[in-house]
Amino acid sequence: MKTIVIFLFIILIPFSYAEDDVLCLKGLKASLKDPSNQLSSWSFPNSSSSSSSICKLTGVSCWNAKENRIISLQLQSMQLSGQIPESLKLCRSLQSLDLSDNDFSGLIPSQICSWLPYLVTLNLSGNKLGGSIPSQIVDCKFLNTLALNKNKLTGSIPSQLTRLNRLRRLSLADNDLSGSIPSELSHFGEDGFSGNDGLCGNPLSSCRALNGKNLTIIVIAGVVGAFGSLCVGFGMFWWFFIRDGRNKNGYGVGKSKDDSDWIGLLRSHKLVQVTLFQKPIVKIKLVDLIVATNSFDHGNIVGSSRTGVSYKADLPDGSALEVKRLSNGCCVVSEKQFRAEMSKLDQIRHPNLVPLLGFCVVEDERLLVYKHMANGTLYSQLRDCSMDWPTRVRVAVGAARGLAWLHHGSQPPYMHQYISSNVILLDEDFDARVMDYGLGKLVSSRDSKDSSFSNDELGEFGYVPPEYLSTMVVSLSGDVYGFGIVLLEIVTGQKPFLINNGQEGFKESLVDWVGKHLSNGRSKDAIDRSIYGKGYDDEIMQVLLIACSCVVSRPKERPLMIQVYESLKNLGDQYGFFPEYSDEFPLIFNKQEH
Ligand SMILES: *[C@@H]1O[C@H](CO)[C@@H](O)[C@H](O)[C@H]1NC(C)=O
Ligand SMILES: *[C@@H]1O[C@H](CO)[C@@H](O)[C@H](O)[C@H]1NC(C)=O
Repeated sequence: MKTIVIFLFIILIPFSYAEDDVLCLKGLKASLKDPSNQLSSWSFPNSSSSSSSICKLTGVSCWNAKENRIISLQLQSMQLSGQIPESLKLCRSLQSLDLSDNDFSGLIPSQICSWLPYLVTLNLSGNKLGGSIPSQIVDCKFLNTLALNKNKLTGSIPSQLTRLNRLRRLSLADNDLSGSIPSELSHFGEDGFSGNDGLCGNPLSSCRALNGKNLTIIVIAGVVGAFGSLCVGFGMFWWFFIRDGRNKNGYGVGKSKDDSDWIGLLRSHKLVQVTLFQKPIVKIKLVDLIVATNSFDHGNIVGSSRTGVSYKADLPDGSALEVKRLSNGCCVVSEKQFRAEMSKLDQIRHPNLVPLLGFCVVEDERLLVYKHMANGTLYSQLRDCSMDWPTRVRVAVGAARGLAWLHHGSQPPYMHQYISSNVILLDEDFDARVMDYGLGKLVSSRDSKDSSFSNDELGEFGYVPPEYLSTMVVSLSGDVYGFGIVLLEIVTGQKPFLINNGQEGFKESLVDWVGKHLSNGRSKDAIDRSIYGKGYDDEIMQVLLIACSCVVSRPKERPLMIQVYESLKNLGDQYGFFPEYSDEFPLIFNKQEH
């Protein structure tokens, strides 16, 4: 894999004239203040005669010793000051730029990525840079590490950062940033964002907890307030920046106002009736959902995924529902198509799926009403408390059964496309129930004939199979990959991306991490400590192997979902966990189809 990446770089980087790199350094030296003469040793050859090379100068590394072509500039801790110089654009093949721990001031040039399009590492931490983070940073598409911490940066985090899909390390800590953290960035962890008084949302405190002053700043900055990070999340991002590519400056003030006002919109239609599939005894109106969710309060949020944010609705009779506000539900299909999709989803009933009970349409808003699941998401169960192994097997088999039914028990097959541990819910008996099925058409722009779609709609971050990046086509085997990641989470207790302490805090994918342990013969180190050595080790290893078969990179080599389900079920059967699943699958559902 690594060799391929390096190989690509060599092909991609056009030949740049060595002369340019010399001028680049000359320009740097001329434009920077260097009070402690750190660059005094920088002297330049009069001609480009190969005997005199710039490659040995302090802080400079070249692609190879024979060519004045710079790959890396390491000028950290040199007391340099001034602006980030434009002459950097002459170092076009630069991959690593470290100007950290100096006194650079001014703005981060918005053209930095057109100057240095091949940057893999950019470290500007520990300077005096102000202004906002330029959204054009998205043009550094090979960026792996971005450290802007310990500066004086202001404004909100540009949502374009979420499109840097190679980014493994991000630090924006200790600045004056404000607004909500885009939910797709929350996996970079608290350390990446702390020390910014105005910043809120996962992984920091929720936006609700802000004081009035900060909230005003955020509203003025045009970032949606309390609901911002989650609601705006992916859907708004897609709508404003991909579909309407003209708005390049982050959240537009007017548009975010619209979004924060969606509750106002719902209120103004509060007497609209909620369509329920089963004839209800009492009719539910929109106002009942508003009251039951405490006006869609942040505290009622039970989950958030690419498809939208779900809120718990506590009804007066003591029962509960889950209301999902669909991301850009408005923007993809017409109301008529939406209603048609809804009546199709009404047909989907399976004990391992969260039943969709109804829906509500108000102008551009689409609300889906699901049954509430008492034990929340698998994701939170794996984090909050330690599930024992038999429970984990029960969940794995149940979720596999639900997905296998979508793939093989219904006609035409339903691709899930958004599999993650956040859409596997647990009912009161800890039986798994899959949610968010059948929403692909409603939240992504692909049309039904051609299942290709844009890069940003590939699925849930961390669960996207490698082939999607090149084929841009979703598939059943892609779902199997996503489920493989869920199984890895169940076995390891880790998130789909994790910090690998061995390598200076690099974030690496769970697949790579597990693969490394297996190839080193240390598979037991990959297993969640809380379940290891309790008499289930053989079984755990078997599930790990099933998981690995799901996440192989060639889609054709992955098993079918029904095979995954059967392997898991055989395993569970040894312990008599699932007498009730005496296999009705999938014939009974085929018969019910019409
Ligand atoms: C480079 O050029 C300068 C003046 O143009 C001259 O003084 C110096 O001796 C030259 N150095 C070499 C190594 O030729
Ligand atoms: C950036 O530079 C600082 C100071 O030199 C260093 O401590 C930090 O580890 C670097 N960050 C990254 C992500 O490389």
